[in-house]
Amino acid sequence: MRVTVQDLADYKRRDEKFAMVTAYDYTSAQLVDRAGLPLILVGDSLGTVVQGHDSTIPVTLQDIVYHSRMVVRGSQRAMVVGDLPFMSYRDAAQGLESAARLFQEGRVQAVKLEGGGKMAEVVAAIVEHGIPVMGHLGYTPQSAYQFGKQIVRGKTREQAHAIRDEARRLADAGAFAVVLECVPAALARMVTSELAVPTIGIGSGPDTDGQVQVWHDLLGLYADFVPRHAKQYARLAETIEGALTDYQDEVRAGLFPTERHASSLPEETLRALLQEVGQPRRA
Ligand code: KIV
Repeated sequence: MRVTVQDLADYKRRDEKFAMVTAYDYTSAQLVDRAGLPLILVGDSLGTVVQGHDSTIPVTLQDIVYHSRMVVRGSQRAMVVGDLPFMSYRDAAQGLESAARLFQEGRVQAVKLEGGGKMAEVVAAIVEHGIPVMGHLGYTPQSAYQFGKQIVRGKTREQAHAIRDEARRLADAGAFAVVLECVPAALARMVTSELAVPTIGIGSGPDTDGQVQVWHDLLGLYADFVPRHAKQYARLAETIEGALTDYQDEVRAGLFPTERHASSLPEETLRALLQEVGQPRRA
């Protein structure tokens, strides 16, 4: 049985913190499940970390459906949340249609969308049809071109009140959790204590109910870049580069593969073949 919206509500009630991570394929989803994390996000961050774009804007609903299917196949316990990409929820009707497609074709157990109070109507329309929705406030990458270099949101009194108000409106509309991205820690603490549903922070300090991190940041898949909000729990880029170099060196030196990496011919077949075709040139 997968983790449910109710389980998350229970975590909050028990004041039990939880971790969420992004994943984009079958193998990584299996690893998340084995490690016991309750939540996987098929984030539109795949636009940058998987597809190599410079923003999440080019990601399509079809992309998220495609990756969600793999992640759902790779996991059995974690709740899989699929991101609704840019322009796939311009109003309640389109949001519902997109969420329904991601739910039915992508097989996710919940969807996430970015944006504040204006999104309340979209959230309500989706939730009303039985699809759980996670909100996302603060720095919302789909609006990156509007924010410019100003990543941290909620630093002024007006912005701080707007975020508090938007979080409440999303929760009132039925969102089961709200991501707070790059919000000052004190504001994130305030919103977390005011909201009945769990908050999930990224770059928003230690006091949100849960935390979310991007797979590539967490595992050090970029050797030369660690975002401020991330902590590398492994340095896989170095490990992988080292392994690839060793592999290439061994192939060039004739050390890999060895006999044991291939199957052998039965003795009499080999003898017969050698009689027919002679010794191979490089044996
Ligand atoms: O797309 C994503 O990975 C996200 C997280 C950073 C919250 O939205």
